[in-house]
Amino acid sequence: MRTVHVHLQDRSYDIHIANGVLSEAGSILKKLGASQDLVVITNAKVGALHGNVLMKSLAKAGFASRTILVSDGERFKTLSTMQFIYKRLARYRVDRKTWLLALGGGVIGDMAGFAAATYLRGIPLVQIPTTLLSQIDSSIGGKTGVNLNEGKNLVGAFYQPAAVLIDPLLLRTLPLREFRSGIYEALKYGIIRDDALFRLIDRKHPHFPESEPRSLEGIIKRCVAIKAEVVSKDERESKLRMVLNFGHTYGHALEAVTNYRRFTHGEAIGHGMIMAAHLSHNLNWLGTKEALQIQQVVSRVSPLPSVSDLSPQKILHHLMSDKKAFGQKVRFVLPRRIGQVEIASDVSMKDVACALQSYLYLGPYAFAC
Ligand SMILES: NC(=O)c1ccc[n+]([C@@H]2O[C@H](COP(=O)([O-])OP(=O)(O)OC[C@H]3O[C@@H](n4cnc5c(N)ncnc54)[C@H](O)[C@@H]3O)[C@@H](O)[C@H]2O)c1
Ligand SMILES: [Zn+2]
Repeated sequence: MRTVHVHLQDRSYDIHIANGVLSEAGSILKKLGASQDLVVITNAKVGALHGNVLMKSLAKAGFASRTILVSDGERFKTLSTMQFIYKRLARYRVDRKTWLLALGGGVIGDMAGFAAATYLRGIPLVQIPTTLLSQIDSSIGGKTGVNLNEGKNLVGAFYQPAAVLIDPLLLRTLPLREFRSGIYEALKYGIIRDDALFRLIDRKHPHFPESEPRSLEGIIKRCVAIKAEVVSKDERESKLRMVLNFGHTYGHALEAVTNYRRFTHGEAIGHGMIMAAHLSHNLNWLGTKEALQIQQVVSRVSPLPSVSDLSPQKILHHLMSDKKAFGQKVRFVLPRRIGQVEIASDVSMKDVACALQSYLYLGPYAFAC
């Protein structure tokens, strides 16, 4: 078992990472002092694939559990699903001592987390993430919430779990495209903090998730450790936590202009990381060799859906309305080298547009304007 600790004073918690840890959930929860009655929030797909192992483990440790099944998909990450969850919690007579378990990807984790943050003004939560993205990103750090028609993740709360249980073996049932989506986020951790991790992921990911389970477990642990370290130092994203947004400024704009239909989140971030590397290169922050390496390694994960038909004006419009934009300058997280990024708060729109246009029109190998 590999354990990563998140240091947040009285909100500190452990992240347990191990192949097969799902079947130890009951004994881990017992040690944590969880309530006798538990409520598991999941969806029908994940419940059918992995619910049994969890339920067996909970029953073996003497827990009684009930389940709330929510509809599957980002389009159900809404206030109306929250209403459904709250009503179920009320029907189950959940009190402040009842623990909630989130079994699923980021959509389940964000909603179960928000339910735990808000029902009775806060009840204990354990995250059991089942996608690569949720294992290395969304289950850690305490961001919870739902979407509005007006935008993604507009309503939510910071709420830390009591523990996170990460079982990489669960990823074997994940569709390959979803798995690779998580690999882009894993590469992000390498670029922002750890060049050896970046190279290791590049070498190993073609074997995952079936082969080399120990390496996958090790890579997940290193990504989790980076996120945990950043969150421990800056829980509410005043500055340092922004480095986790590397690739996300361009990436979010690509998702928005395609109505969240063309790319998985990770694919949009894949494009976004290459574009940010171009921008960094154009500003003389990043050498040509490393910019090319980022481009090549990201492109090797899988063919990214095309961007050549997208309107640069629309993308720029979204960039400007991004939460991180102010005035005529956009805040960007840019690589100085692989393994180190810096926040650039005064990048001109001209430079942003230039890197974008050369990427859209000339392809990933086009560097300067
Ligand atoms: N809170 C945060 O800090 C944070 C960070 C990043 C992303 N997010 C949020 O996470 C969400 C995306 O999460 P996601 O990528 O995990 O998507 P997801 O939760 O929609 O899961 C993707 C699909 O895989 C299925 N699935 C999950 N586990 C499976 C398994 N083991 N085997 C087979 N199928 C499985 C799901 O049912 C779903 O159909 C977004 O809503 C995003 O806003 C939150
Ligand atoms: Zn992301």
